[in-house]
Amino acid sequence: MCGIVGYIGNQEAVPILLKGLKKLEYRGYDSAGIAVQGKMGLVVRKAKGLIKNLEEKISAESKNADEFCGFAGIGHTRWATHGEPSDVNSHPQTDASGKIAVVHNGIIENHGKLKEWLLSKGVTFQSETDTEAVANLIGFYYRGDLLQAVMEAVGRLEGSWGLGIICADEPDRIIAVRKESPLVVGIGKGENLIASDVPALLEYTREVYYLEDREIAVLFKDHVDFYSDEGQVIQKEKTHIEWDAASAEKGGYEHFMLKEIHEQPKALTDTLRPRLTAADTGGARKINLDEIGFDASWAQASRVVITACGTAWHAGVIGKYAFEHFARIPVDVDVASEFRYRDPILNPKDIFIIISQSGETADTLAAMRMAKKGGARIIAITNVVGSTLAREADLVMYTWAGPEIAVASTKAFTTQLMCLNLIALQFGVLRGVIKSAQLNEYINALEAIPAQAEKILKGKENIQRFASQQFNKGKVFFMGRLFDYAASLESALKLKEISYTHSEAFAAGELKHGPIALVDTSTLVVALCTQSKLFDKMESSITQVKARGAAVAVITYEDSDRFNNIADEVFRIPRTDDSLSPILSVIPAQLFAYYCAVQRGLDPDKPRNLAKSVTVE
Ligand code: M6R
Repeated sequence: MCGIVGYIGNQEAVPILLKGLKKLEYRGYDSAGIAVQGKMGLVVRKAKGLIKNLEEKISAESKNADEFCGFAGIGHTRWATHGEPSDVNSHPQTDASGKIAVVHNGIIENHGKLKEWLLSKGVTFQSETDTEAVANLIGFYYRGDLLQAVMEAVGRLEGSWGLGIICADEPDRIIAVRKESPLVVGIGKGENLIASDVPALLEYTREVYYLEDREIAVLFKDHVDFYSDEGQVIQKEKTHIEWDAASAEKGGYEHFMLKEIHEQPKALTDTLRPRLTAADTGGARKINLDEIGFDASWAQASRVVITACGTAWHAGVIGKYAFEHFARIPVDVDVASEFRYRDPILNPKDIFIIISQSGETADTLAAMRMAKKGGARIIAITNVVGSTLAREADLVMYTWAGPEIAVASTKAFTTQLMCLNLIALQFGVLRGVIKSAQLNEYINALEAIPAQAEKILKGKENIQRFASQQFNKGKVFFMGRLFDYAASLESALKLKEISYTHSEAFAAGELKHGPIALVDTSTLVVALCTQSKLFDKMESSITQVKARGAAVAVITYEDSDRFNNIADEVFRIPRTDDSLSPILSVIPAQLFAYYCAVQRGLDPDKPRNLAKSVTVE
């Protein structure tokens, strides 16, 4: 996720672009840049880091007033995907001639092939970004008509994109086009703008057009033309924005956490899709991890060790179950702060999977360095390109979740699960445990998950109503077996960290070994029931807590009525393979935690005593 702005009109573009970028900084903040059409032609300034670094660079590098000013330009604040945060990888990216500049939000999945093809035509590249392939492709097709060149280039792209494009030879226009990445066109008086989100526009206009997939907008200062991807003129309906600036930044949601919970379907798609072979190429579907450099040698490991903290550790616990199930390989999973001070037995044949949303957690990094010292090879799963973890690991698999602003991790967690499932399945294939037909079934199940997550989100009012009845409970226990136990750990953490409710998770089989002593009429027990072979056992545990007066909510499959008669409330999730269920079953728990926090009058985005990134011990 990145932030795009574009301006064309009668005012000086640079200050407007900078202001717009600051409004979008929540979408990405590892680097920023601006391209402006001015007296000196097309000029680009870029800087690694926050937008203030770009401001400093602009004033340092523009010695005279005319050097970096003009009435049309595009800007970008980046959340790196391809290529670490650096000046050269920042956007705008230009084509080899330097005449066409592009800002991009999204992932160009076939950028490698496009780059190869362009290189074979003699086109040169400077950066590691997927975006430069787009700029060069447009440059390649440019024969004096920017719109035509954009249409030809976009026709060859695979993946997702929101693009803002300007060309030195056509300084009176900005072109915008999108697929699966948002772009809004703002209509002002004698000026028009583009942005990847409304907050960047609100100071100038409340009249906007939302671009739909593959639609193209050509902005001039006094009008905007819209085209289909085939170049036919289209008419669009204008929208008047009612939101205030603060809620616009959160996409109309009350909090970032709720917004991020809702971003999960998209984040899951972005994380999954580039790692699968295309469905329409014929033949059996495959998982393709070439992009991260994963080859057969990795699957020869004698043991997998997963190490992380907090939510990422919970993902690791689920990962252990997945690896054992899919790949039949021994797995240890460790809290990083324990691992680093224990006396762990390390073996050069071990593979470590280190999980961290931020890639900067002190304990997690220390554990990784210890494992490396012991000779193990490291796979990192992280959300931040160029983070310390990403730089120091042998292989990196990114979660394409975009920046997570709320302290409580939601979309990072489910995308971590997606990555772990992909690696575990690939291990299974390489170790001969999973055959082609089975893999196909798992791939189908994984591909169904984003839409299934969407369906759960549509039923959120039920969870909100339930939270409004239960938010004052003295204690809440989450229990389950196997994958459900692991998902319970994360569910309990969500509730405790943002609603300050005392919540615990335990394996349902442990109930009689202790936790049941705490169960009374003040207790809510949330039972996760997606492990079909253990439904009888779960039923018995539920009966036992009910007998002690606890209220019980069950999270189970929508096509099962098994728990209807013994639960006070049933939350339903779409049917999936039992080993993939945590990606879905955690969503009702995230929503429950969120609504409990709101009912208690708390700010779920900023829970007390917690920080987003724990870079100290
Ligand atoms: O950035 P990391 O994934 O390494 O962070 C690990 C934990 O600090 C983090 O997951 C924490 O538990 C969150 N507050 C959970 O919502």
